[in-house]
Amino acid sequence: MLKPISWGAVTVALAMTWAAQSQALPKKPPERGYFDVSRMAPLTDQKGDPANGRKVAAGKGLCLSCHTMPIPEEADHGDVGPDLAGVGSRLQPPELRMRIVDPKVLNPDTPMPSFYKKDLNRVMKKWEGQTVLTAQEVEDVVAYLGTLK
Ligand code: HEC
Repeated sequence: MLKPISWGAVTVALAMTWAAQSQALPKKPPERGYFDVSRMAPLTDQKGDPANGRKVAAGKGLCLSCHTMPIPEEADHGDVGPDLAGVGSRLQPPELRMRIVDPKVLNPDTPMPSFYKKDLNRVMKKWEGQTVLTAQEVEDVVAYLGTLK
């Protein structure tokens, strides 16, 4: 006669298999593609200044080399990245900040530079340990993008 299934034993066996598998999972190294919510928190205590953010986007940030933006006084806008008109309606400030600080968190293959990352690869000696934008410039750019509704 067949023995009735012991659900207790089945549960134990499943739990053991699960435990063995989860132990085998490799720990992800904190490198490219690593998600860290601290990248979404404001970088400074001072509120971002949208007017300066617009200047940084059109100038030092070189955003226009890849993005079309509502900055009509600049002639050449790129189309490598998405048009940023309306981006303030699509993305919240923390999401915008994460994309400026280090867009490679979301897409390791993106051509968009990480504007606030100190351990950039392959930079000239004099730029080592520096970020492309300052913390306040990042906050200003985030504030400006937030106005693009
Ligand atoms: C070398 C090209 C390049 C430069 C320079 C660049 N970006 Fe991008 N950006 C991209 C690409 C490509 C994407 C699309 C996302 C991806 O690649 O994963 C993107 C995505 C974005 C997004 C998300 C848009 C959306 O609708 O999801 C924002 C916001 C953004 N960029 C802002 C900026 C700002 C602000 C600057 C300047 C400080 C900048 N980018 C500079 C290429 C660039």
